[in-house]
Amino acid sequence: MYTMKFPLICAAAASSLSLLPTIWAGSYSVNQTNIGSAFLTNFEWEDIADPTKGRVHYVNQSIALAKNLTFTSDDTFIMRADYTTNLTASGSGRMSNRIKSYAQYRTHVVVFDIRHMPQGCGTWPAVWEADDQVGTSSGEVDILEGVNDVAPNSVTLHTTGTCTMPENRTQLGSTLSTNCSSSDTLSDGNNGCSVDAPYTASYGKVFNTYGGGYYAMERTAAYIRVWFWSRNDSSIPSDITSGASSVDTDNWGQPIAFFPDTDCDIGSVFKRNNIIIDLTFCGSWAGSSYSNNGCPGNCTDYVNYNPSAFEDAYWDFAAIRVYQPSNSSSMSSAPPLITGGHEGRLVAVYATLLAGVVFTIL
Ligand SMILES: *[C@@H]1O[C@H](CO)[C@@H](O)[C@H](O)[C@H]1NC(C)=O
Ligand SMILES: *[C@@H]1O[C@H](CO)[C@@H](O)[C@H](O)[C@H]1NC(C)=O
Ligand SMILES: *[C@@H]1O[C@H](CO)[C@@H](O)[C@H](O)[C@H]1NC(C)=O
Ligand SMILES: *[C@@H]1O[C@H](CO)[C@@H](O)[C@H](O)[C@H]1NC(C)=O
Ligand SMILES: *[C@@H]1O[C@H](CO)[C@@H](O)[C@H](O)[C@H]1NC(C)=O
Ligand SMILES: *[C@@H]1O[C@H](CO)[C@@H](O)[C@H](O)[C@H]1NC(C)=O
Ligand SMILES: *[C@@H]1O[C@H](CO)[C@@H](O)[C@H](O)[C@H]1NC(C)=O
Ligand SMILES: *[C@@H]1O[C@H](CO)[C@@H](O)[C@H](O)[C@H]1NC(C)=O
Ligand SMILES: *[C@@H]1O[C@H](CO)[C@@H](O)[C@H](O)[C@H]1NC(C)=O
Repeated sequence: MYTMKFPLICAAAASSLSLLPTIWAGSYSVNQTNIGSAFLTNFEWEDIADPTKGRVHYVNQSIALAKNLTFTSDDTFIMRADYTTNLTASGSGRMSNRIKSYAQYRTHVVVFDIRHMPQGCGTWPAVWEADDQVGTSSGEVDILEGVNDVAPNSVTLHTTGTCTMPENRTQLGSTLSTNCSSSDTLSDGNNGCSVDAPYTASYGKVFNTYGGGYYAMERTAAYIRVWFWSRNDSSIPSDITSGASSVDTDNWGQPIAFFPDTDCDIGSVFKRNNIIIDLTFCGSWAGSSYSNNGCPGNCTDYVNYNPSAFEDAYWDFAAIRVYQPSNSSSMSSAPPLITGGHEGRLVAVYATLLAGVVFTIL
């Protein structure tokens, strides 16, 4: 492995320093495996007022467990909305979960093995990464998000500063918008840069009909890539289906969405982010699109007075695995850093370069 890498390093060092961060872009080792009850210790239940002003009441972990809105078994992690309580207009919104990883990440890969996602009129589920204490100033990656069962999934970046994407990129999805820089509210035109997945099975009812599937994201200082495979897709990489302890993103084929650093300094507009998973109702997106999406009545009334309509408004995760850059070689002593993967990798690169020089001299 070391001898294979050495000529690559020399070539990269000779041509451009900016290539350094991507030298080992493909190879990652598992850092955290979330299966069943591991979610309870690795994530915080955020019982906060919904920043998107949804018709939701986010509960803490003890309430969620007590009301069975959160349920774990050996191989299952379920988070659902309350689907039995008939609400009152003056009372709080529908009970649901919003969870956030305690750990934050820069360079990493995350693989979501999802059996079921929330569906129903008025629903707005999301799997995303951000630091929700600071809005979009740490960058935001919306990996799986949509409203009112409308497929396909849109993958979206939100940033501050200057960050745009080329119209044409090496991706399977279609570019919807290219300006990632956005203010904090939808009403201010906070659309971000979006890519539509090429499959209806990427979202909502059709996603669930096929037994869900895998979403994967790779974030480096040079690019962000998102892949999706429906459950019975015959071309899912084996390191994904097996939950391997190391993965190689270079073997995963074209992503559905690719965000390069051609006109966006990804390494600086994206900072330390948490993994966040939530389900809200109505609010600034699901509410404003509700009628256009063919849903009955108005969103708030529907959410308040039709509890049984939310029986399928649940997440079922088989696993979430987080990976970090693998050791560059057995000669490198620099470990990947959880909150500084980029820097960690650079250190590893230089250590190996140095080792290569020593090797050559010897
Ligand atoms: C994950 O990364 C953190 C921070 O670098 C480290 O403390 C922890 O030991 C790692 N866990 C595994 C299983 O590699
Ligand atoms: C969870 O929320 C309930 C209701 O607000 C509150 O009574 C309880 O103390 C909270 N539990 C924790 C551990 O914060
Ligand atoms: C809690 O939820 C799980 C998953 O939906 C379900 O299998 C279980 O029967 C529920 N338990 C109770 C006591 O309702
Ligand atoms: C993008 O690709 C399409 C189809 O190949 C082409 O027609 C279009 O001119 C390209 N746009 C840009 C901005 O390069
Ligand atoms: C992108 O959007 C931001 C925020 O609305 C705006 O300030 C900036 O001018 C836009 N950039 C381009 C290239 O349109
Ligand atoms: C995937 O599974 C669904 C539901 O079982 C089925 O209708 C569909 O034909 C399957 N697709 C493939 C490619 O196997
Ligand atoms: C929804 O409809 C009810 C009447 O059924 C009305 O009182 C309420 O103001 C409406 N809400 C919105 C947001 O339009
Ligand atoms: C919920 O309450 C409303 C009035 O507050 C009532 O019209 C409706 O029938 C109730 N729905 C259920 C399922 O009980
Ligand atoms: C990295 O290398 C060190 C020293 O050889 C080893 O102890 C450690 O397990 C390796 N970590 C990974 C994630 O491969």
